[in-house]
Amino acid sequence: MHLTFRQIEVFNAVARLQNYTRAAENLHMSQPAVSMQIKQLEESVGLPLFEQVGKKIHLTDAGRYMHEYGRHFADLLEEADVVFEALKGVERGRLSISVATTASHFATRLLAEFTKRNTGITISLDITNRESLRKQLENNEPDLVIMGQPPEGVDVEADVFMDNPLVMIAPAGHVLTEQQNIALSAIENESFVVREPGSGTRGAIERFFARNDVNFKTGIEMTSNEAIKQAVEAGLGLGIVSIHTLELELETGRLQILDVHDFPILRHWYIMQRKGKRLSPAAQAFKTFVLEQAKDFIRLP
Ligand code: PGA
Repeated sequence: MHLTFRQIEVFNAVARLQNYTRAAENLHMSQPAVSMQIKQLEESVGLPLFEQVGKKIHLTDAGRYMHEYGRHFADLLEEADVVFEALKGVERGRLSISVATTASHFATRLLAEFTKRNTGITISLDITNRESLRKQLENNEPDLVIMGQPPEGVDVEADVFMDNPLVMIAPAGHVLTEQQNIALSAIENESFVVREPGSGTRGAIERFFARNDVNFKTGIEMTSNEAIKQAVEAGLGLGIVSIHTLELELETGRLQILDVHDFPILRHWYIMQRKGKRLSPAAQAFKTFVLEQAKDFIRLP
């Protein structure tokens, strides 16, 4: 049999997601390229691995065997990677970290401090929202993930390292900035500039208002905290953001935190890896650094 690791990697993704288009997105490939890899793999096995029933694809008997072997291959490769990373030690290791959009405001500062102490480590940082982090953990992709709460439905080893208060913000001069202990009912008529569905911040805000039985009017949706702050400043609505995104705007007085009853919404930051994952020395060193020292380098406004 002449098969390649790439074909197996593509096969594993299609088998897991049962969908060529989603597998292609996941692997950053085009769909025809994915189909081609599967076709070549089927040719070298000499049997079809998938069958189409209606719009869905299913594994054939041969496909189920291949899936079993495919997972073993992937586990073995991962194990080999961990061994080689361990041999390189902390001095020359590689580290792949994925963080929630909101955490990027301090993650870069942490990485800067960490690399000052460990100059040989090569780091790759992915910044994305909560939903996409959940998928990455499910696929065991990054070494470590920093996000606002461990995701549902994925087994992870998560440790909390810092508070993440969500505050309500208004532009300087807004009438509500003059008031104290504003009742939640008083903001029912305000419209909010919000993050996209799939964002941890957005989820936490929606749960908070539902719990308090208060109507929450969403206006424009944005995928970036920076854009939300600019929109609030421009008068497009109020905002609710993590205090970690705010340093500069509060210093310059462009935005103000409103004194709203039951605010801030208290969340926490967690660092985590998929359960059972063996951390390389570089990843372990970073995790220890975050747990023990992150707070010293992240200044709250
Ligand atoms: P977000 O993440 O950037 O997706 O809102 C923060 C979080 O996980 O709470």
